[in-house]
Amino acid sequence: MKTPRFVCHGCGAVVDAAALLPFRCPQAGAAGDDVDHLLAPEDSTPPHQGAIGSLPLVGRAGVGGPAETDPFLRYRTLLSPYRLARAWGLPDAAWSDIAGRLDRALIAVDGRGFRLTPMAPQPALAEAAGSPGPLWVKDETGNVAGSHKARHLMGVLLYLKVLEAARRPAGEGLRARRLAIASCGNAALAAAVLARAADWPLDVFIPPDAEPAVVARLTELGAAITVCRRRDDESGDPCYHAFRRAVAGGAIPFGVQGPDNGLAIEGGRTLAFEMAEGFREAGAAVETLFVQVGGGALASALAQGFAIAAEAGVIARPPRLMAVQTEGCAPLARAWQRLGDSDLADAARHRSWFMWPWENTPSSLAHGILDDETYDWWAIAAGMRASGGGTVVANEAAIARAHRLALAQTAVSVSATGSAGLAGMLSLPPSDQATAVIFSGVER
Ligand SMILES: Cc1ncc(COP(=O)(O)O)c(C=O)c1O
Repeated sequence: MKTPRFVCHGCGAVVDAAALLPFRCPQAGAAGDDVDHLLAPEDSTPPHQGAIGSLPLVGRAGVGGPAETDPFLRYRTLLSPYRLARAWGLPDAAWSDIAGRLDRALIAVDGRGFRLTPMAPQPALAEAAGSPGPLWVKDETGNVAGSHKARHLMGVLLYLKVLEAARRPAGEGLRARRLAIASCGNAALAAAVLARAADWPLDVFIPPDAEPAVVARLTELGAAITVCRRRDDESGDPCYHAFRRAVAGGAIPFGVQGPDNGLAIEGGRTLAFEMAEGFREAGAAVETLFVQVGGGALASALAQGFAIAAEAGVIARPPRLMAVQTEGCAPLARAWQRLGDSDLADAARHRSWFMWPWENTPSSLAHGILDDETYDWWAIAAGMRASGGGTVVANEAAIARAHRLALAQTAVSVSATGSAGLAGMLSLPPSDQATAVIFSGVER
């Protein structure tokens, strides 16, 4: 088996995962460069039938088998760390062993490991929302650390574990490097749970107004916390700047922003694989998917995952991807408008024309999607264009109504950020076609 390679969608740089850590594009940061650098696995961008021919995803007897309920086992042949392990001669059992140990540690730390999460139509919610068509809700609130975020980071952690197990030069000195993340919410909690399960030291960069309950849990999990204030000489998120400095000093990027670690996006694709399989089992043709967008890793992972599932024939075509932001912070909607029908490849070489930090300090009930920048904007734009989707800017009334309806009409204890995709649906005229949303995080 070939070792997996990663390709930057902006500059075309190729990284062999056996030789270099495929986190940030090696060309990123060059002076005067306005390229949108992001590494994605080479053979999971079309055409990629070869990579997915043996998946439970396509209904054949795969290595995991249809009965496998841990997504990181079920979809392992689609994950580049698994392919790297096999290319380096590790047996299939070595992957099961790595994933199994982490699973047991996660259960000890957080009371749960990764399992396929529930998804079902929610007729009462559809009716209350005025939707004539069926409304599917994928519930991530019971996932590891209470949101979908841990999926992203599990993709990274499994890669680190494979490097350790294979004892290759690419993994030398890895254990001496700390993990680092900039976040004050679900991503930080997910990182801290996974880092604790792997017994790997973690630095978390948080703003001064981070919720005390989150800070307390991060501390309990053993994360080292640095509070970062806005500075006059810096635009954009000060936590993100501090994170970048830590990574420049040798830390391993353990965040969910794709440009810093393409592997994080890959782990998130498992969510789309699960949904696609669920739609197929139910015989449902879901027309539109509304997704709340902050830094953009979630929507980017879904766009890529659904494209792979469609190409594998699991679903006829990817649902229309509708990216939902709030009035208080909508850098992706701004970029999408600027993009119009311009050439995407060209846009990847003129990033700053499309994406720059939101000027005002944003606020919203859905505070988890207030990222200054949509770091993964390009991949989402590509997904929206390919699926005939677009952006929706929801006002605060819609965000609040979506949250109220979600809590009243379903049994899911979802946060306002977690139900913000539904606010996008509420902001558009009702449709009689099937729609899906993701309740992505638990109410804390
Ligand atoms: C519950 C929840 N849903 C959705 C998002 C948005 O994800 P992304 O930042 O990848 O766009 C976040 C981000 O923090 C979140 O916490």
